[in-house]
Amino acid sequence: MALQNAPFETQVRPYGEAAIAEAARLIENGFPVATPTETVYGLAADATSGEAVARIYEAKGRPSFNPLIVHVADLSQAEEIAIFSDAARLLARRFWPGPLTLVLPLRPRSPIAPLATAGLPTIALRVPAHPAMRGLIEATGRPLAAPSANASGRISPTAAGHVLASLDGRIPLIIDAGPTAHGLESSIVAVTEGGLRLLRPGPIGLDVLVAVSGMAVLSEAVDRGEANIEAPGQLASHYAPAKPLRLDAAEASPDEWLIGFGEVGGDFNLSRTGDLVEAAANLFAALHQADSQSRRGIAVAPIPSQGLGLAINDRLRRAAAPRSQG
Ligand code: TXA
Ligand code: MG
Repeated sequence: MALQNAPFETQVRPYGEAAIAEAARLIENGFPVATPTETVYGLAADATSGEAVARIYEAKGRPSFNPLIVHVADLSQAEEIAIFSDAARLLARRFWPGPLTLVLPLRPRSPIAPLATAGLPTIALRVPAHPAMRGLIEATGRPLAAPSANASGRISPTAAGHVLASLDGRIPLIIDAGPTAHGLESSIVAVTEGGLRLLRPGPIGLDVLVAVSGMAVLSEAVDRGEANIEAPGQLASHYAPAKPLRLDAAEASPDEWLIGFGEVGGDFNLSRTGDLVEAAANLFAALHQADSQSRRGIAVAPIPSQGLGLAINDRLRRAAAPRSQG
């Protein structure tokens, strides 16, 4: 199959060696591929490449960036990416591979693209049980970021046909292994020093998580999915720089650090060619760098409000809004 850009002629291939090899090649070239997991079908891309991760958001048509779950082969690959406490390790040993996602502190020099965690200092990790997703991780040798393989605002797909109905033409390949076993997304638990926070209920109940980890439950902030991810308290936090941020700036004042785009050069240019995939890939690195400068403020060049530009502008607007609530 020739490598081309969107719109794609979306192929549906039965799970097997040939499909995995083709999917691995696409992922290595920076494209997202839909694959079954034991929970729901996921849209998998190389988590170490910002541009590959940007193409996940582009395919889903999400108007905002939220952090994604990164799928790895085993606990030792997970430990290269995140810092595990004893309790986190107990949970991983008991429930991996399987439908449990752990939110843990990100290692400072982890290979994960900042866009995959939406700039957060934590990461959601899972070792999947399904042989298709496991085969892809093995064949690519990469950690794979994978949200549910549905267009923004649609429910999670539990069969290849659901994926095709919502992402036809937007992704190159769907691996079909029939309906998923759980039909429901993984349980998501943040493991902190003080205890567990259930961020999304799922196949593994809080009672067994408490029993296995020996940790207390801090709260049950519930993620109700993509529809209202923005409701207060649902996500632990959204990354935002500490400094004032000014949008649509053609140039910076002397006390501002300028994030450029296209012809507005700036101190850091998101994409000189005006490529929104490249700009999305660079966004969180730019914000972190801007925040660490001595200049008092951050200015950002205008970004077109189309495609991934919508998600970039959404994040910038929220970073620019005065902090009203904790
Ligand atoms: O079963 C599943 O978990 C499926 C399959 C494909 O593995 N994946 C999935 O991913 O549901 P996604 O991206 O749709 O859900 C990711 C959710 C986000 O909505 C967010 O609530 C949470 O994971 N999340 C990710 N990173 C986080 C972080 N650093 N802190 C808090 N929550 C995080
Ligand atoms: Mg989802």
